[in-house]
Amino acid sequence: MQISIIKAILTGFFFCLATATASHAADEADAMKLLEDSKCLKCHSVDKKKDGPAYKEVAAKYKGKAEAEEKLSKHVTVPSKVKVDGEEEEHGSVKTRDADRIRNLVQWILSR
Ligand code: HEC
Repeated sequence: MQISIIKAILTGFFFCLATATASHAADEADAMKLLEDSKCLKCHSVDKKKDGPAYKEVAAKYKGKAEAEEKLSKHVTVPSKVKVDGEEEEHGSVKTRDADRIRNLVQWILSR
């Protein structure tokens, strides 16, 4: 009898722990899917410089900067021009308007 109560409490405790962790860590699968669907990986990779900086570099550049999330959210949603090999190219935008998915992607980039 007592053991089942302890079990129930422990199960509840670990369930809360698991969901709490999941809601804080950025969803990697969704971030990668959005990058693929939006063709970002044509110019970016996580840890190697391509035409654009590696996301690890971006994360390092913005580490500890309070405005990072806001700035990058704009950068990935508002079309802009970037220089690739001296030529101006359209910087891609994410193919979604879902604010949660955009926030997730930006947090994921910043936590590389
Ligand atoms: C045509 C190639 C190209 C594509 C496509 C592209 N990028 Fe970029 N991206 C660049 C270049 C080049 C830079 C560096 C621009 C600069 O620092 O002025 C950059 C910079 C960035 C940065 C850092 C911005 C900063 O303020 O330091 C982020 C984040 C980023 N890109 C995310 C994305 C995402 C997300 C997508 C897909 C929606 C994407 N990029 C698509 C070329 C590209």
